Amino acid sequence: MGKDVIVACDFASAEATYAFLDRFTGKKPFVKIGMELFYAEGPSIVRGIKERGHRIFLDLKLHDIPNTVKKAMAVLSSLDVDITNLHAAGTVSMMEAALEGLTRPDGTRPLLIAVTQLTSTDQAAMENDLWIREPIDQVVMHYAENAKKAGLDGVVCSPLEAEKVHTVCGAGFLTVTPGVRFADGDIGDQKRVMTPAAAKKIGSDYIVVGRPVTQAADPVAAYERCVHDFVD
Ligand code: C5P
Repeated sequence: MGKDVIVACDFASAEATYAFLDRFTGKKPFVKIGMELFYAEGPSIVRGIKERGHRIFLDLKLHDIPNTVKKAMAVLSSLDVDITNLHAAGTVSMMEAALEGLTRPDGTRPLLIAVTQLTSTDQAAMENDLWIREPIDQVVMHYAENAKKAGLDGVVCSPLEAEKVHTVCGAGFLTVTPGVRFADGDIGDQKRVMTPAAAKKIGSDYIVVGRPVTQAADPVAAYERCVHDFVD
């Protein structure tokens, strides 16, 4: 695992996803499968993309009682994805149970990372909707520390917070950062955003890029621009 660009394949069907991936002749981008695609197509989409040779981040953001999450993670573990995730808001016990469920009898498991605060959430939404009054960066750090305490491998966070997460939790603690936009592109519903080049500078391990690639007139060129700015 090293620095890489993960493409969020937020499509509604296997057909649309494969049509998109077919454009990447000779390249195998790291793919993120989210709720929309997984709920539409089920586990077969994970197996299908894996068979094509892509690494997969299965982004289902589990959040439930520890026992339920543990059992769900055991199912996801059998799909042989590379990374999966949950909400740190589910508590340390829930994260510990998840890790237990994810670990196969031979001790291997996919990487498990925790969502701290969604990149579409800002300070005002956190205070007004969630009734969390502390500054958002402190909330993110607290959730990251909880994830580390539970034994997880890293967090999903805004690129704006990646550097501090590394300071607080260590350089080896993964930061996977959505909310990435080109300087000349649309922000959409994301609120805390950064360019691929800036995300590289502050030390994100992986950037997750959706619409700037999937909705681009030339998705392959947009992906290559991300790789050039973030990895090369
Ligand atoms: O299209 P866009 O680049 O905004 O896509 C970002 C992707 O990352 C989406 O699939 C979204 O669900 C996901 N994500 C996020 N913020 C988080 C966790 C995941 O935007 N905190």
